[in-house]
Amino acid sequence: MKKIIAVDGPAGAGKSTVSKICAARLGYTYIDTGAMYRAVALKVLLSGKPVSEELLDNIKIELDESARVYLDGREVTKDIRTPEVSRGASDVAKLGFVRSKLTELQREMAARGSVIMDGRDIGTQVLPNADLKIFLTASVEERARRRFEELKLKGLAADLAQIRNEITLRDKQDSEREIAPLAQADDAVLVDSTNMTIEQVVAKILELAK
Ligand code: CDP
Repeated sequence: MKKIIAVDGPAGAGKSTVSKICAARLGYTYIDTGAMYRAVALKVLLSGKPVSEELLDNIKIELDESARVYLDGREVTKDIRTPEVSRGASDVAKLGFVRSKLTELQREMAARGSVIMDGRDIGTQVLPNADLKIFLTASVEERARRRFEELKLKGLAADLAQIRNEITLRDKQDSEREIAPLAQADDAVLVDSTNMTIEQVVAKILELAK
């Protein structure tokens, strides 16, 4: 039977890492909705123009089984992970016409089979009938530390205080926006990963999914 798991939470809580592993173990498709907002932001940046409904009219966003991301047929998996695109994603995510377009695409993706979908509004707006909803969080210090380590591993320059500020700002913007703000659904299970390893979080979700 088709099953749906929704994972929401703030930036850097570990949603994509644990969702990817859970999807592989359960044989579900992993859908990273943040990557879709990032792809829209990248398209806007590349266009050099303000975001418009026209720009979204013929946008093509695809995610493959290895979580690679394609924008209008071109792979942008790495290009969408810059701080500029992170900020841009949070900006375009405030707009109703962007959200309705992506929500529609996300529902279509979920209709095809069992999925684990991560984002900010999956349990509250996109898939309110999900079989299991997780709200994954961690302290802002821990989330900033994880992003810092992630960037260092990639050989990129990183400043912990700056990352902490960017995360705090983005969480505030995501939580305070009018349309589909970041929020824990009433029926979501809260998982605080501050003092948990990736494997512990995965085990917890798999246990709840049984
Ligand atoms: O990976 P990280 O947690 O830093 O962010 P992300 O999941 O890639 O999402 C990037 C941005 O897209 C977020 O800051 C939100 O503003 C927006 N977003 C959203 O509004 N709704 C979603 N379902 C997913 C992401």
